[in-house]
Amino acid sequence: MIGVIACAGKSTRLMPCTNFLSKQLLPLYDKPLIYYPISMLMKVGIRDIYIVVNGENFDLYQKQLGNGEEWGINLTIVKDTEIKGTIGAFNKCLEYTKNQKVCFVLGDNFFYGKEFEKELEYAVNNPNGAYVFGYPVKDPRAFGVASFDKQGNVTKLVEKPEKPESNMCVTGIYVYDEKCSELAQKVGLSKRGEYEVTDLNKMYLSRGELKLCKVPKKNFWLDAGTSETLLKASNFVFKTIKKTKKQIGCIDEIAYQKGYITKEQLQKNYEKLKKTLYGQYLYDNYLK
Ligand code: G1P
Repeated sequence: MIGVIACAGKSTRLMPCTNFLSKQLLPLYDKPLIYYPISMLMKVGIRDIYIVVNGENFDLYQKQLGNGEEWGINLTIVKDTEIKGTIGAFNKCLEYTKNQKVCFVLGDNFFYGKEFEKELEYAVNNPNGAYVFGYPVKDPRAFGVASFDKQGNVTKLVEKPEKPESNMCVTGIYVYDEKCSELAQKVGLSKRGEYEVTDLNKMYLSRGELKLCKVPKKNFWLDAGTSETLLKASNFVFKTIKKTKKQIGCIDEIAYQKGYITKEQLQKNYEKLKKTLYGQYLYDNYLK
């Protein structure tokens, strides 16, 4: 399975910080936001990752991430010049996604929790149809929202409903089988002028091939795409690292634990991070 991360938006909800900087390069506590979706994909064993970025930010992403060598993964930065929504970005990867199973992540989504990782791993290892991941929120009007029948089956998906029929938000991580690139090309423009991931999910739903897994209650999700939620996620990471003494979104650690890189490579990565608590963590846990 390959991974696709969408980072191609205009990030208007985070201006002025994003006047000329992609939001996924802003810090979520001690590392760029983009580290978190990459770490999620690495944790479930995905090593071929395509990051679709707004053309203007292409060089910055290249400088920040390179080709993934230092973490033993293959990273490809893909340019989007149209900026027409989540599936607009997804469809920029057609040459890579054709007949491939794909885990698609929206680059501003932050997930935390072992139980959720297990669910995602299961979906990645058993990809048929589509898996989406639901999380109840107080006000789901800014999200994709799922409706259910009495048996708990999804009956409807609506993007940003004015009057949501449930509080179950569909989060920004999706696991698709090899039909996805073909179906994604059939997604048309929505009323707000975007190609919506919800429309791709609806296609799977109408084929009877959509499964909704709930992000377990004790886990945590948020869309870190506004100043408030980015701060909330940063505080969460800061506090959780302090409490558990374990890093979050630490791609150097995951790469080493998974055996994608040698201790020598980890040492090299550490040299650049020496003056940070992130570097100290790598040293104390793996290099001492
Ligand atoms: C996107 C999706 C929406 C989903 C949300 C999760 O919305 O279109 O269905 O619930 O991400 O973060 P956007 O953030 O692009 O407005």
